[in-house]
Formats: sequence, C-alpha cells, structure tokens
Amino acid sequence: MKPIFSISVQAALQTKWLRQITQRKQILLFSKVLKKLAVDKALIDAMVHESIFTEKILLQKIPLSAFFMLGKMAKQCQKGFPMAYLLKEAPFLTNMLKVEPGVFIPRPETEEFVIYIQKKLQKLWPKALATPDFSIANEHMLEIGFGSGAISIALQQAFPKLAISAIDISKKAFKLATANAQDILGPRHSIQFMEADAFTHMALQKQTFSLLVSNPPYVAEHSKDLAQEVRKFEPASALFAGADGLRFYRKMASYLPKFCTRDSLIFFEIGFDQAADVISIFSFLKNKHIEKDFLGKPRFFSAVFSA
Ligand SMILES: C[S@@+](CC[C@H](N)C(=O)[O-])C[C@H]1O[C@@H](n2cnc3c(N)ncnc32)[C@H](O)[C@@H]1O
Repeated sequence: MKPIFSISVQAALQTKWLRQITQRKQILLFSKVLKKLAVDKALIDAMVHESIFTEKILLQKIPLSAFFMLGKMAKQCQKGFPMAYLLKEAPFLTNMLKVEPGVFIPRPETEEFVIYIQKKLQKLWPKALATPDFSIANEHMLEIGFGSGAISIALQQAFPKLAISAIDISKKAFKLATANAQDILGPRHSIQFMEADAFTHMALQKQTFSLLVSNPPYVAEHSKDLAQEVRKFEPASALFAGADGLRFYRKMASYLPKFCTRDSLIFFEIGFDQAADVISIFSFLKNKHIEKDFLGKPRFFSAVFSA
C-alpha cells in the first residue's frame, strides 16, 4: 500500500517516539486509542499480538492526526501520566467509568471493598436479596468522598432499592459521578449526589443514615510508599490526610454521632498499615472487624454504631 501522508510526517518521525514504545502496557494503551479511532480491528490485534507498532505500519494505516496524537500520548506516558486519564476511562467491576484529571482514579482494591460490603449486606439484609420485592427503602446509605461515583453506582446496581446519598467536596467529581450514574444506571437513577464538604454541609446535619461508606483520603503527606506518578498527577484532596494519614478518620469519628443512628453499619477503606490506628480511633464502635485484601493486607474496616 502507498503511504498516504505528506513529507511533514518525516518531522514527526524524528522524535523517534515509536522506538520507545516497548512496554506492553503502552502497546495496549495505543491499541485502545486506535480502536477508538475506528482503525481496523484485525490490524490492531495483529500489532498487539506481535508487539509491533512500527512507523511503517502506522504511517500506512492510520490518519496523520492519530499518528501525532499517539506521539503526544507516548511522551505523556513516559512522564508517568496515568493511562486512565489518557483514555479518559477506567474499569470498575462490570462498569467502565469516565475519569479525568482532578478526579481520583478508582483502584482494584476498592472493587474488593465493594464486594466485601455487598457480602456483608447480603448477610445482614438477607431478605433484600431473597425476595426481589422486599423493600429496603428504610435503609439509607451515605457515601463520603464519591470521586468518579464508582462505589455508589456499583452498590446501587447490587441493591436497586437502597436509597443512596453521596457527597464529595470536588466540583469535577460531582460532574463526573453524575454523568457516570446517568450513563450506567440511566437518566432516572436515584442516587443523590451532593457537592460539599461532608463535615460542614447543612443537609447532612439534619438526617441520619443506616449505612455509611467511605474510601477517604488516607495517605500521609510525606509518605514514601506513594508512587511519584500518583503524587504528581492525582488530586491531593483525594489522597492526603495530614502528617500521619489519619486526619480524615479522626474527623469522621467525631462526626459519626451526627451521621449515624443506632446500629448504623460503617465501612471504610484503610491504608495497608493503618489497621491498629483505625481500630483505636473507632474504639467506641461495636463489632469492629478488619478484612484483608487479596494480597493479604488489612484493607477494609467495618463496624456498627452504638448510640
Ligand atoms: C480516595 S478518593 C475516593 C474516590 C472514590 N470513592 C473511589 O473510591 O474511587 C477520596 C474522595 O474524597 C473526597 N473528599 C476529600 N475531602 C472531603 C470532604 N471533606 N468532604 C467530602 N469529600 C471529600 C475527594 O474529593 C475524593 O474524591
């Protein structure tokens, strides 16, 4: 096949970025981008299978604009810019969520968190699943810090009759989670998303919830365990919680009597090294339990509020 591009392509080639695409994850990223650009699927599959993205093949098969776009993305990848932000989407359980810079990218351990909550609720509210008509309308969940909406949307899918309110301080998160809920659950979904600080929002001062769920910011500000790319590219307000990473839990502990009613269920995702501190911060709760993630690290805290 004849090359279909002008000589100016030579200038792009001088960047030599293609030769640096050696990592499998970059190859997969590029294949996704090419799919979005409606490039022939058989060709993409062949390139991925053979791990080859050469100038020759790309120049012959894809539009010049796509070629330049891939070059730009390759450079961003090399700087550690998250692939989810480049693709503007991230998988979460069975859903594909929109994400964008400024909003936390949902993580695999949070998928496990949701499955853990689901299993616990199935045990505690067995009728909700045994009989589809059983109403759990009396139960009202609050999620604090919804980000892309990952947790609330997945729990609404699992428990369609559960009333869900969700609050996040970030305007971008509010827009994105609302759009994700509409795409996934439909325009008439009933999750009530709020954009505000959970600890000062007046609406939350007036009601109580039977289920409280949060994957809050829990990273210590100077943590050495945090990957540089995460620190650089993901929102600080979603990550950091003071010098020891526990500020949010301490604040939560002092606000629980406002949010909860007798026997409210509480679920928090925690840092892998925070189990003992979190148990101590929430020492006043009943039935405290720490669940490990699939790597065997303590990750999920659950408890029952006792008024
Ligand atoms: C670690 S992210 C979790 C996002 C999402 N739930 C997930 O698991 O992917 C924490 C979220 O808490 C939000 N946040 C931080 N401080 C908050 C506050 N005071 N009130 C409400 N949301 C807050 C951040 O904007 C961020 O979206």
